[in-house]
Amino acid sequence: MKKDRQATQADRLKELLNDSSESEQKHTKVISITSGKGGVGKSTISANIAFMLSEMGYKVGLLDADFGLANLDIILNTRVKQNLVDVLNDRCKLEDIIIDINENLKLIPGDSGDEIFKFKDSILAEKFLADADELLGDLDYLIIDTGAGISKANQAILAESDEVIVVTMPDPSAITDAYATIKVCSKFLNTVNLLLNFTKNQKEADLIYQKISKIADSNIEDFKLFYLGNLSRDSLITKCSQNRLLFAKGYQNSLSFFELSEIIRNLIEKLEHKLLTSKQRGFAVFVRRLMDRF
Ligand SMILES: Nc1ncnc2c1ncn2[C@@H]1O[C@H](COP(=O)(O)OP(=O)(O)O)[C@@H](O)[C@H]1O
Ligand SMILES: [Mg+2]
Repeated sequence: MKKDRQATQADRLKELLNDSSESEQKHTKVISITSGKGGVGKSTISANIAFMLSEMGYKVGLLDADFGLANLDIILNTRVKQNLVDVLNDRCKLEDIIIDINENLKLIPGDSGDEIFKFKDSILAEKFLADADELLGDLDYLIIDTGAGISKANQAILAESDEVIVVTMPDPSAITDAYATIKVCSKFLNTVNLLLNFTKNQKEADLIYQKISKIADSNIEDFKLFYLGNLSRDSLITKCSQNRLLFAKGYQNSLSFFELSEIIRNLIEKLEHKLLTSKQRGFAVFVRRLMDRF
């Protein structure tokens, strides 16, 4: 019985991977959040964006791909014991590691991207992809909290994403690092989104965007740096982190909530324009394509 089910899952996966398939697969919009250096707010922003989208009624997966420094579980006040690498090593099942944060939001603990790619030809990978399709096939959004920097694994994730958000902050070294990340992304993407965190106000944020955008325009061909918005430096965010709360959950009247809502509105609007031309694909196909990059 179980074997039959697995066989059916495998068949369905083959069908999904086949571009000519007529299957009505859900399109999971993959949004990766990255930065040139650490400590700029990627995990905080990933968790709060994922939560806000889930509250809007979307089905959301939040993939922790900040290898080694995984801390989304802390931000979400839960505890992760095993991750995707344990699943691929057959130490546990995918359903054992996925954590339901609320009805619409699932935390998917990842690990080193380099580890995951090693399994691309393994039989366990096929089983994993079939399970992923069953458990995560209905996601509207997959938000990926990537590690800082531009490792090969990170680049693969960014290249396969529908949208990439580069987070940075006003200090000059962070801006230089962000520009370096944008430049690498421009090799495989024709647009990247900029989110400025820890800003004093919107005016400061606008000026920084204009500065980076000007450099990008004159140095990178056929590329658009899209401004998603800014998040001000707010002691509420630090306080929420310390108390393992999401500002998007308990503080709907805060400036941070307002600013993040704007960012999400811009993001959804951008995606809606793009979806008309993009290919349908779900979580399992996304992971398969990632693996195939290695
Ligand atoms: N806009 C902000 N205002 C104040 N503190 C912030 C803001 N954004 C992030 N933080 C704090 O900065 C620290 C680093 O954020 P984190 O999300 O862990 O960064 P990263 O994932 O990029 O390393 C956390 O303690 C977080 O609460
Ligand atoms: Mg982080």
